Amino acid sequence: MTDAARSLSRRGALAAMAGAAMLPAGVAAATTASGHGGGLRELAARHGFRMGTAIHNPGLADPRYRALLAGEFSIVSPENVMKWDTVEPERGLADYTAGQLILLPTAQRYGQLVRGHNLVWHAQLPDWLIQKTWTNDQLAAMLQQHITDEVGSFRGRIYAWDVVNEPLNEDGTLRQTLWSQAIGTDYIAQALTWAHAADPGARLYVNDYNLEPLGPKSDAMYVLVQDLMKRQIPIHGVGFQGHLAIQYPYPDTLPQNLRRFAALGLDVAITEADVRMELPVTADKLATQAEYFAGMMSAYLTLPHPVSFTVWGFTDAHSWVPGVFAGQGAATLFDENLRPKPAYDAIRAVLED
Ligand code: XIL
Repeated sequence: MTDAARSLSRRGALAAMAGAAMLPAGVAAATTASGHGGGLRELAARHGFRMGTAIHNPGLADPRYRALLAGEFSIVSPENVMKWDTVEPERGLADYTAGQLILLPTAQRYGQLVRGHNLVWHAQLPDWLIQKTWTNDQLAAMLQQHITDEVGSFRGRIYAWDVVNEPLNEDGTLRQTLWSQAIGTDYIAQALTWAHAADPGARLYVNDYNLEPLGPKSDAMYVLVQDLMKRQIPIHGVGFQGHLAIQYPYPDTLPQNLRRFAALGLDVAITEADVRMELPVTADKLATQAEYFAGMMSAYLTLPHPVSFTVWGFTDAHSWVPGVFAGQGAATLFDENLRPKPAYDAIRAVLED
């Protein structure tokens, strides 16, 4: 893609931001956590970007969950239902219905765009795939088929895809995975190219965690995406997952870091923000968590063209954190009873400023 075409299509994507604040007619007035109308989505729209959340499909059964989802967010990511182990638990029997029949219609009803997550990752792969030994050619062919089928089945309905998830090690080297070993370093370029062929309209991202500070990992991502762009590989954005923890220092260099990626002409999105803490919860820890969330949002607002700021689930009732980080939790904006926490108010204050 030429630079001109790239910037045109980016503007097209940003134009699609219009209406981000509005709920479509027919959806009951949203219950926003602020209690005075106008959720985070409306405040974000004033700054030209979308406020997002991961959707926990089982959470959708709760009307209070749905009300907050509708009122606060204008872009959503499937927390699990578009991952390979979920869509194809048995070889050859891919089933996209949890996305197509539940998530997409919900998003459409609430006027939300969808970020597809994810296509290539080392985790949440189906058992049939990891429990057998394959040749490199077989693995390459299976990955191409997976990307082509999944992206194709959602063609035209996904705003952006996290095509490659978590490709880097902390020291900036390429993570050794089934895919890097079978296809080589170029698996990232290949995956992006296959995804683009299957849905030329989708914004394609590489997404990773611990990219927030300037350092070896974000430097490596910076080199990687520049190389992809030079080679005209279809890459449109970088996702900063934004999984922070209050027991670690806040990444002060986040604003400069975000801006250097944006300066390349790429979309820059926060894709999975949460801020975990060691339990039990205390008022002090909640206050620190609020500072971390507000810091991330302030950093994001320094971008000339913000796109989307997504939290990885919005209630502690469904967060992935306790299951993965022993003794930690309370990482989201709303508590287990869906009451807004200080972090919610802090984000509002940043957006209202
Ligand atoms: C997590 C989900 O939230 C959990 O429900 C699941 O059990 C494991 O994966 N980085 C990512 C996400 O890119 O896909 C992960 O989601 C969280 C870390």
